[in-house]
Amino acid sequence: MSIALCPGSFDPVTLGHLDIIERTSRHFSEVVVAVIRNPQKTQSLFTLEERQAMLREVTAHLANVRIEFFKGLLVDFARDQGASAIVKGLRAVSDFDYELQMAQMNQRLSGIDTFFISTSPQYSFLSSSLVREVGRFGGDVSTMVPASVATRLTERFAEQGGQA
Ligand code: PNS
Repeated sequence: MSIALCPGSFDPVTLGHLDIIERTSRHFSEVVVAVIRNPQKTQSLFTLEERQAMLREVTAHLANVRIEFFKGLLVDFARDQGASAIVKGLRAVSDFDYELQMAQMNQRLSGIDTFFISTSPQYSFLSSSLVREVGRFGGDVSTMVPASVATRLTERFAEQGGQA
């Protein structure tokens, strides 16, 4: 049984993430989407539970995908899960340096290999942070995130009165 981890903040999940998760699920018996508990970058727009609920909804058609939280080192979580691979999407050359460094560090720490999947071209400009920014100012994100996520973004920014 081959288990892969697709890690990230998923704040929120985008169509780019979903593309990588779907394609990973074709190559491994099981895919664990590993949602980091404490992303260091920014304060999250969505709580952990909200991010998990959105991921569950949009991956419901994938029988071999489950959603889990983790904190601490990704490789420790990978070991706990019995995962033999980490899978990441590469959008552009700008992703490469940092992703390569993380892959090499994770390999050194644990022996776990990272596999990169090239992001589908229609999603290569997408990131959760840009989606949040566009959504915050009322831009149309309907081609960037699943419909249920677009609805939640609209609701969240309405709750925040556009001031988030
Ligand atoms: O969606 P993101 O925010 O780009 O995901 C980054 C993530 C969660 C994959 C990365 O920050 C991570 O793996 N964090 C866990 C801590 C860890 O293991 N750090 C060492 C990496 S070499």
